Amino acid sequence: MKYKAYLIEQTDDQFNGSVKELDKPAIEAGHLIISVHYSSLNYKDALASTGVKGVAKAYPFVPGIDVVGTVLESADERFSEGDNVVATGYKIGMAVHGGFGEIVHLPADWVLHLPENMEMFDAMSIGTAGITAAACVKKIIDSGVSNDLPVLVSGATGGVGSVAVNILSKLGYEVHAITGKTDEDKTLLNMGATEIIQRSDYMAEPARALDKAIYSGAVDTVGGDMLAKMISMISNEGAISCCGNVGGMKFTSSVFPFILRGVSLIGIDSAESPIELKKELWRLLSSEWQLDLKSQTKEINLDTIGEEVNKILQGQQVGRIVIKHGA
Ligand SMILES: NC(=O)c1ccc[n+]([C@@H]2O[C@H](COP(=O)([O-])OP(=O)(O)OC[C@H]3O[C@@H](n4cnc5c(N)ncnc54)[C@H](OP(=O)(O)O)[C@@H]3O)[C@@H](O)[C@H]2O)c1
Repeated sequence: MKYKAYLIEQTDDQFNGSVKELDKPAIEAGHLIISVHYSSLNYKDALASTGVKGVAKAYPFVPGIDVVGTVLESADERFSEGDNVVATGYKIGMAVHGGFGEIVHLPADWVLHLPENMEMFDAMSIGTAGITAAACVKKIIDSGVSNDLPVLVSGATGGVGSVAVNILSKLGYEVHAITGKTDEDKTLLNMGATEIIQRSDYMAEPARALDKAIYSGAVDTVGGDMLAKMISMISNEGAISCCGNVGGMKFTSSVFPFILRGVSLIGIDSAESPIELKKELWRLLSSEWQLDLKSQTKEINLDTIGEEVNKILQGQQVGRIVIKHGA
């Protein structure tokens, strides 16, 4: 049996993506063959699609770190043919072909049953970006962040940032959103942000060792100097989740926020987080934290992935991109 996939091929140092037909793999013990109904586009997929080192193990390769679909064949007793399932992260779309193909062959340990009240499209409008945002929010809440002061979100119109804004707002936090886009205030207000801060204004002055403590917590998707500045503005016993590096890998901070305010800096690695945490995040997102992201999600098919990859690499993506398989 053949299936369609967006395949990235390498010629010398050039990486090109196109829709190709591939052969369905044979099932291995402990694995599932899944008919993928939808995938989604994440920053990591854009890196894998353009040959950035350290993401895809080898080329030719099918990216797509997110998968939702139906079990076609099961070699694991926890799953049966016809089950609706969801999978994000681990080595999907990195070392094994991912959700930009109509078929995936995955270890059952990486797969969860889709929550019963969740539509497949909605699951992918969340995807890894949303699961990461949920992990960021859960960790700052678990560390006791209060809602006496606002919470800050950077890269706010992006995949992770936008879902973080939605969740925090739903949970009753006053959300201040930092963005580099000058024309997305309305979008951010619709997501639940109460104040929009232009990135250039926020970064106009360099970070101090300690700045005014006007935020109880933060979700940072940007890293670099932005993260340093955010840390300096968190109040006593506050917390900041750090998950991204679109703005830089390195930052220089002072120890003062940590030793004079008890601020916690919490790292997030959603891809490799335990499956039980992912299960809990999907449960939250299908119940108390349920979101309607339809108006913030664009649906595309395999033919237009390339255009969206370019947008995400230029920092121009707004909200989420869902990839639909089939007609
Ligand atoms: N740790 C994890 O488990 C995990 C999981 C998923 C993603 N990530 C990481 O999280 C980051 C965001 O991922 P994403 O999927 O949300 O990407 P995305 O959709 O491209 O969003 C990133 C957003 O950051 C802002 N931005 C872009 N370039 C910037 C720059 N040079 N300086 C400051 N801000 C910039 C833009 O928002 P504005 O225009 O609104 O500022 C952009 O939309 C990436 O680094 C990704 O690798 C980590």
